[in-house]
Amino acid sequence: FTEPSIRPLNLTDYIGQTDVKRNLEIFIEAAKLRQECLDHVLIYGPPGLGKTTLSTIIANEMDVQIRTTSGPAIERPGDLAAILTALEPGDVLFIDEIHRLNRSVEEVLYPAMEDYCLDIVIGKGPTARSVRLDLPPFTLVGATTRAGMLSAPLRDRFGVTARLEYYNHDELSEIVERSAKVLELELDSTSALEIARRSRGTPRIANRLLRRVRDFAQVKGDGVITYSLSTHALEELQVDKLGLDHIDYKFLFGIMDHFKGGPVGLETISATIGEEAETIEDVYEPYLLQIGFIQRTPRGRMVTPLCYQHFKRELPS
Ligand code: ADE
Repeated sequence: FTEPSIRPLNLTDYIGQTDVKRNLEIFIEAAKLRQECLDHVLIYGPPGLGKTTLSTIIANEMDVQIRTTSGPAIERPGDLAAILTALEPGDVLFIDEIHRLNRSVEEVLYPAMEDYCLDIVIGKGPTARSVRLDLPPFTLVGATTRAGMLSAPLRDRFGVTARLEYYNHDELSEIVERSAKVLELELDSTSALEIARRSRGTPRIANRLLRRVRDFAQVKGDGVITYSLSTHALEELQVDKLGLDHIDYKFLFGIMDHFKGGPVGLETISATIGEEAETIEDVYEPYLLQIGFIQRTPRGRMVTPLCYQHFKRELPS
């Protein structure tokens, strides 16, 4: 009951993010020439743009194993020590949501990143002493939605920083066509482009929409994804031409209807529409900022004239 993975496994198959890719290719090749492990990599950008995929690719390209964990999963310094001491030389350690590591854990990470060692305190009180434990050399790949949420000492210990950007329609379209091929789906290029347009610059959304459109094609059609079938399916899925969903609508209409377009503080609008402030900030706002529908000002969020225009609404006086 499993289907083939639609995640690319090497840089050649990874579409878009050309600047990041070009640089990574060089750093990976150089590290391999020197027979060293790759310097630590920080990947940041909005959710769904391929941070996990890229970390897997890095490990594949370096011919090493990847261990995956996340900031919230590592509760105590001992948890991290257990992970680090279990690494094989050269391994990639992927820590997702690395901004959510707590301070005491972060402090174990500094010497591990810098000198591949652990400083462990044995005993308590006046007889306590510190011992150094050597670790195998490894590459830490950290992922976060916003680099600004990382503490400065942690951020400074990454030798490579990769900032992922939203994908354009052509790139997303190519991703959809590639995924369709892996899933052995018949899909024409106009359908791919229509799915791409409604995916808010995000491959994860594009691939999800492709799967849902496939469901419609199988049940309502003969399995082939045509333009009319995909537009019908996308209407049924309630993703509009810009890929905005009902939470985007709640957010935008909330500001327009209750706060005359803003400015309104994030916490206030969050309480008004009943969505978590952090989710709004990390998941919804970046794309709305990108398409120019909202602005961040010192006094809060504002809906732009462009957004009023899109919804054919009068600007507030
Ligand atoms: N799937 C998710 N992200 C992708 C990318 N950048 N290229 C190809 N396939 C992907």
